[in-house]
Amino acid sequence: MPHDTIVVLDYGSQTSQLIARRVRAAGVYSELLPWDAPAGEVLARHPRGFILSGGPNSVYEPGAPTLPAYVLESGLPVLGICYGMQLLAHALGGEVASSPTREYGPARLHVERPGPLWGDLPPDLSVWMSHGDRIERHPPGFEPLARSDSSPVAAMGDPDRRLYGIQFHPEVQHTPQGAALLANFALSICACRPDWTPGVYIDEAVDRIREQVGEGRVLLGLSGGVDSSVAAALLHRAIGDRLVSVFIDHGMLRKGEAAQVIDTFQKSLGLNLVAVNAAEDFLEALDGVTDPEEKRLRIGELFIRTFESQAARISEELGAIDFLAQGTIYPDVIESAAPDRPAARRIKSHHNVGGLPVEMAFELVEPLRLLFKDEVRRVGEALGLPEEIVWRQPFPGPGLAVRCLGGITWDRLERLRAADAIFVDELRAAGLLRDDTAQAFAVLLPVRSVGVMGDYRTYAETVALRAVVTDDFMTADWARLPNDLLARVSARIVNEVPGVNRVVYDVTTKPPATIEWE
Ligand code: XMP
Repeated sequence: MPHDTIVVLDYGSQTSQLIARRVRAAGVYSELLPWDAPAGEVLARHPRGFILSGGPNSVYEPGAPTLPAYVLESGLPVLGICYGMQLLAHALGGEVASSPTREYGPARLHVERPGPLWGDLPPDLSVWMSHGDRIERHPPGFEPLARSDSSPVAAMGDPDRRLYGIQFHPEVQHTPQGAALLANFALSICACRPDWTPGVYIDEAVDRIREQVGEGRVLLGLSGGVDSSVAAALLHRAIGDRLVSVFIDHGMLRKGEAAQVIDTFQKSLGLNLVAVNAAEDFLEALDGVTDPEEKRLRIGELFIRTFESQAARISEELGAIDFLAQGTIYPDVIESAAPDRPAARRIKSHHNVGGLPVEMAFELVEPLRLLFKDEVRRVGEALGLPEEIVWRQPFPGPGLAVRCLGGITWDRLERLRAADAIFVDELRAAGLLRDDTAQAFAVLLPVRSVGVMGDYRTYAETVALRAVVTDDFMTADWARLPNDLLARVSARIVNEVPGVNRVVYDVTTKPPATIEWE
């Protein structure tokens, strides 16, 4: 049975994806589609309501994105956010004009008319504004619902036609009650059933996988990261031993990581897992390489070759393999549906490792295609994966190779692993690993400095600690970690890790720096 669905039409705001995420957090399935997606494609989702996102344009600009006719013709509820509100006003006979001052940042919203959009929310709300244009006159049939200091019509509605517009952004964290407002729209105004839960998703995904795969065999590259782990657990539930997972240890993993992946998936979950220790091959391929992109390239190539030869060996042993599983998640799907969205410029050739060659003759199985990252985690929890796997921080495909600056040797990797483990252990013990740092790790610098230990002069390498807070990994701030924690980590690293006599803390934001050092 299809889920009650809210379609979010994307007008190009940076935060469009968040709208769909917040609606889903209320238990209602939501999809983000380009504003000019073909009507048939949108209506095939059987939406119960539309949300129009914000966007960078002005409705009067020539060539500005428009409101597709089917939206109002459907008679379904509509919520326009910022640009979306202006589109509604423009289409229905209201007046939009550029406001005397561009309003950007926090604002106070005063609700003037209670109603289903607000539900039980208090009459005064903190909201986040970001707009140049504003509504000067609301369209006929609408009534103003709220004002802010610089927007006389900061929210408007026509309850009979179930059309609403808000000038502020309910999807961002800076609008604390925004999630509740979006839930009100989906649940009260659109009357959607809140049936989007991890349990339901798992049941449906298992059915879909069984239908697609039939009696076939599926090959999966397991990295130990969240996406491939959850995909593996889901596929295992659907087809058991007909899932063959391949875990390639390229020697650039963190301390204890390979053993943990093997323990969890082979021993606890009983997966049909082929674990390959290829560290020597990778070290050889990296011999003498110091350039970051060259490291990525070589690791990526060897990874694919190793995977291919494993695939060939497995199909010789077991018979043909028909499917290849991939941990594609919903943001990847959205991005490929909107190719002309200004994509982030390639600063680093990410996603090269673990990204397997498409020319391999397999049909793809993508069991996480509909999920946002936070939903992948909830599904992983519901499947019984351990917390260390489900809440694992992102880890680059080339692994410690891009955290071990300069030439890579086994000794230097071990040094880095030891320092990294100390940092991460201390963060975990202080309860700062999960919510307070999005990513935290050690970097080994090929820089030696002079120190003194007891009565001896030392001349050894430097460890940089990096810990960042970020929602999207596109921008990041350095984590303001407690000084005594940094002191403890530093003391432990120089005492416990031979070859390191200095520890520094990276206090650079992204941009201008990146999160990883290479
Ligand atoms: P940067 O360093 O560009 O990192 O700020 C942003 C996010 O991407 C991860 N990252 C990588 N992931 N292969 C990956 O799969 C890579 O080569 C790679 N380089 C960086 C990084 O850990 C952070 O989460």
